[in-house]
Amino acid sequence: MELNIALLPGDGIGPEIVEQAQKAVNAIAEKFGHKVSYTKGLVGATAIDAVGDPYPEETHEICMKSDAVLFGAIGDPRFDHDPNAKVRPEQGLLAMRKKLGLYANLRPVTTFKSLVHKSPLKTELVDGADFMAVRELTGGIYFGKPQGRSEDGNTAYDSSVYSREEIERILKLAFEYAGVRRKKLTVVDKANVLATSRLWREVAQKMEPDYPDIEVEYMFVDNAAMQIIQGPKNFDVMVTENMFGDILTDEASVITGSLGLLPSASIGTHTSVFEPIHGSYPQAAGKNIANPLATILSAAMMFEYAFKLMDEGALIREAVEKSIDEKIVTEDIAEGGKAYSTTEVGEWIAKYISNK
Ligand code: IPM
Ligand code: MG
Repeated sequence: MELNIALLPGDGIGPEIVEQAQKAVNAIAEKFGHKVSYTKGLVGATAIDAVGDPYPEETHEICMKSDAVLFGAIGDPRFDHDPNAKVRPEQGLLAMRKKLGLYANLRPVTTFKSLVHKSPLKTELVDGADFMAVRELTGGIYFGKPQGRSEDGNTAYDSSVYSREEIERILKLAFEYAGVRRKKLTVVDKANVLATSRLWREVAQKMEPDYPDIEVEYMFVDNAAMQIIQGPKNFDVMVTENMFGDILTDEASVITGSLGLLPSASIGTHTSVFEPIHGSYPQAAGKNIANPLATILSAAMMFEYAFKLMDEGALIREAVEKSIDEKIVTEDIAEGGKAYSTTEVGEWIAKYISNK
């Protein structure tokens, strides 16, 4: 198969981790006889510095023309401490999501047997936890209008807005995932307070009869924040709005023992984007210490979701699992033993794939 992949390394550790994922992709392509070509695009602070726009039109065109996008990370502390910055790296990520119509962000939360003891939670609570967080990605308070400041500068406002159609399409996807998993769907909202949440609940309840084999549970987000920690194994598919999903998935990463392990797929109306859920980790940029596994696992999701190449995805997962078993890991998950560099981990994984 011909695979045209857009590479958007972005900021901070982005370039280093994307490079490792690329090694895994190349090894897979060689093994399975695929022809890969890469086109690089600028995004984030790097793009602001180069052309003054965090998601330049040229990058968008590259994404639109590609079969999949492999994305690193976005964010730069230079902008975080300037509340009046006119343009921010994060706007690039949001613009990309909006323009590519990426309304669904799939964040699988799975544990690795040999790492469960790294989780700050008790092993018996997290061992075997396996759920899929489905986060709505192009609506809600991230994009709602009006957003801004009053003229005197003393009042600020954001708006959470959802249409029935936006809610329906994300719920449909979540119901379908639940259907091919353990058939349980948890709809997370704040329907006791928010109008948007009440519409989510209304729409979900209306859809329930179309999926008679799926058990649907409704949970307030504050309670969900607690349940994720107290009983992660009780979840199968969890669906929620944009900001709740942002917060709950960072929280969920604790279950696995490191934020450096969680991949994601963003899918919608145009090209899908595959990216780790962690950020640009600027303190580690250029030091060759960042954990590349979330990005390599995102590449596995790319094979499975964008190309429907399941064996290829499975081999990447196997290689990642083996690297953890063999303790060829970066400092965030190394314990006592030797910590390997970003590139050493990437090369080990590519080699494992080639030798298989
Ligand atoms: C994420 C990130 C982004 C988000 C930021 C960088 C805008 O936290 O992908 O989870 O809030 O969506
Ligand atoms: Mg986040």
